[in-house]
Amino acid sequence: MDIIKALASDIKNSEYIVAFTGAGHSAESGIPTYRGESGLWGKYDPNIYANINYFMQDSSYYWNFFRELRYPLLLKAKPNLGHLALAELETMGKLEAVITQNIDGLHQEAGSSSVIELHGTSRVIYCMNCAQDYSVDEVFSILEEKLPPPCRNCQGKLRPAVVFFGESLDPLTLQSAYEEARKCDFLLVIGSSLVVYPAADIPLQAKHGGAKLAIINKDPTPLDDMAHHVINDEAGKTLSRIVQILKS
Ligand code: APR
Repeated sequence: MDIIKALASDIKNSEYIVAFTGAGHSAESGIPTYRGESGLWGKYDPNIYANINYFMQDSSYYWNFFRELRYPLLLKAKPNLGHLALAELETMGKLEAVITQNIDGLHQEAGSSSVIELHGTSRVIYCMNCAQDYSVDEVFSILEEKLPPPCRNCQGKLRPAVVFFGESLDPLTLQSAYEEARKCDFLLVIGSSLVVYPAADIPLQAKHGGAKLAIINKDPTPLDDMAHHVINDEAGKTLSRIVQILKS
């Protein structure tokens, strides 16, 4: 049997399926991944652009990066075939939750209703002093006047609602991700290098809880040996093929 058919058949026979996604899942929406040849961290040092200590010292690098790259990408990016396939699996009753490392909000935009954002979201920005929330559009327009952008209420420091390096993940978010991982009998791991912890602990937790793992990723990962299915291909076309098979 071809490997995608075998994976689809396991999905059909599983009762509680959860997806765990990383940057590769959004690559087909035009959002660059972090590692690898054309990865973001090759061009932008994460110790400067994604580290909380650096951000607190001087956030202008981050906001420049937001203005030049993050914001235009967020405006342009649309859910791809992979996002749509996961939303469809949920509608078919074959997906209970999506645990994502991505901060782009594309799973929700595609229609997935139960999304756990382990690393937060870049779609919300808030004031570290008065907690006022801002949309990315509002901050983009403040940035036209001032860098770094101040809070309009209190002049406080603004930050994105993402988890920077040097910060802990939100404990309740992490707890619900672990709960889903332990509850599932099948975990679909998609588009992640599986090298960043604690996120990469999710597949390990699922495996220890007795779930089968399927890894759909362009490149090999350190957890391939413990997976039932490994497909080194693009997420979008693989997931849409799975949905097609399940519907036929
Ligand atoms: N389909 C499937 N996989 C893909 C695709 C695609 N179209 N394009 C790229 N990939 C794979 C790559 O082979 C790579 O292994 O996606 C993976 C992306 O890996 P990373 O860039 O390391 O992204 P991720 O695993 O999500 O990173 C985890 O690191 O810096 C942090 O906070 C950031 O959440 C991120 C975390």
